[in-house]
Parts: sequence; structure tokens; C-alpha cells
Amino acid sequence: MNLMVFGAPGAGKGTQAKFLIEKYDIPQISTGDILRAAIAEKTDMGMEAKKFMDEGKLVPDSTIIGIIKDRLAEDDCKSGFILDGYPRTLPQAEALKALMSDMGISLDKVISLNVPDSLIVGRITGRRVCSECGASFHVEFNPSKVEDVCDYCSGKLLIRKDDNVETVKSRLEAYHTQTAPLIAFYTDMGVMLKLDGTKEVAQVTEDMFKAIGA
Ligand code: AP5
Repeated sequence: MNLMVFGAPGAGKGTQAKFLIEKYDIPQISTGDILRAAIAEKTDMGMEAKKFMDEGKLVPDSTIIGIIKDRLAEDDCKSGFILDGYPRTLPQAEALKALMSDMGISLDKVISLNVPDSLIVGRITGRRVCSECGASFHVEFNPSKVEDVCDYCSGKLLIRKDDNVETVKSRLEAYHTQTAPLIAFYTDMGVMLKLDGTKEVAQVTEDMFKAIGA
């Protein structure tokens, strides 16, 4: 199963991707997580990407496309994967289409989580992220069982550096201008599943599996 979770920042992509991993036992490929790991390791690519991420801007396509090409070639992607946060521009979507065609595989479903901007700021400012496995929680809407401790791996929960009101505004602007056009791209490909992402986490999960036909 080759899947993609799609939506604005804070729409719930990472949250729902965790349920897809459990169900299908395939890896989540989050370009945001890969970039944050590169920043933590202080690689040249990570240091370059950090400048864009701190301002809520998209990292250049050439960097991101190279990351995905390398990642999809890894062994654990052979039985499928869940793309989270990629693609975010039309050139990235075209590059993915060409890459998957070269690999002889295709995209099965794009799960699009629709959440209005008015709900996004509250979601992002209340988010807590696991420092070990990257799982997302929310202090009010999706709390961990034990405060500041991850339900999945017991890692410490932290606030992401770009989870502040100012950065969220630029991330939303980047979403609407550069990423939202991909809705038409994947609708035309016939793989788009549009879900109401404003419902409670468990309800969105149920709707998602029903839409996939699982
Ligand atoms: P990235 O890490 O991908 O961030 P994002 O797209 O901004 O998405 P988020 O991780 O913020 O949100 P999410 O949809 O996963 O929501 P979550 O499930 O956590 O990218 C960061 C940066 O890296 C970008 O700004 C860019 O600079 C760069 N980058 C990454 N990929 C790139 C690319 N392809 N091209 C160029 N640049 C790239 O949920 C959010 C919160 O809401 C959580 O607290 C959660 O608990 C809560 N929540 C989830 N679902 C619900 C619900 N149903 N009801 C109530 N609360 C909910």
C-alpha cells in the first residue's frame, strides 16, 4: 500500500499516519521529521533547511526531492510507505510521479484532511511532540496518558521550535499558495480521499479506514 496524508500544517497528518503504520506495518516518511533530524545532526543540508523552517517557508524543491529519492530507495519501503508532508509543490508532485513510475509503483490513495485556518493556530500552539518517535499530542484535544510522556515509546514530549503564532501564519500562507493546488492534481489522478479533519481524532481515523476500504 503506497499512501499519502495531505493537509495544512496541523491538520492531523502525523497523528493519522501513526494509525496507518499500526494497521499496514509500513514506514511513515515525513520530510519534516527528516529535516529536523538533519538539523539535530547539524549536517550542511540541515543547517541550510533550518533557515527556511524557522521562518515557516518551504525548503527548496531540489533539496526535498533528493531526500525523497534516497528514502524511497531504502529496503523498508519495498512493501509500501506513507508519505507525510511530501509533496508540497507541483514540481515535487511531478518529481514523485516520475520517480514512482521509474520504480514501477503507483500511489494508491491520498488522504486529505480538511481543517479551516481558524482551528489551526490552536492545534499548533497546543501541540507536544515526542523527542524519540515524533508522535504528536495536544494538551487539550489529544493529551498523552501521562503528562509530557509519549504513549508509544515513553519519550519526552517537547514543543517544536516552529510551533508559534508567527511561524504558523507563514506556514499557512505557504500551504495555500504552493501546496493547495495539489488537491486538483491528485483529484485528477483519481486517488484523492477528502475527509473532514475537524472531527475528533478517533472519528477521523474511523472515517479514514472506511474511505480506504480497510
Ligand atoms: P512538517 O513537519 O511537515 O510540518 P507541517 O506540514 O507544518 O505539519 P505539522 O507537522 O505541523 O502538522 P500535522 O498535519 O502533522 O499535524 P499533527 O498530526 O501533528 O514541516 C515543517 C517544516 O519543514 C515546513 O514548514 C517546511 O519548512 C519544511 N518542509 C517539510 N516538508 C517539506 C516539503 N515537502 N517541501 C518543502 N519544505 C518542507 O496535529 C497537529 C496538532 O493537532 C497536534 O497537537 C495533534 O495532537 C492535534 N490534532 C490532530 N488531529 C486532531 C483532531 N482531529 N482534533 C483535534 N486535535 C487534533
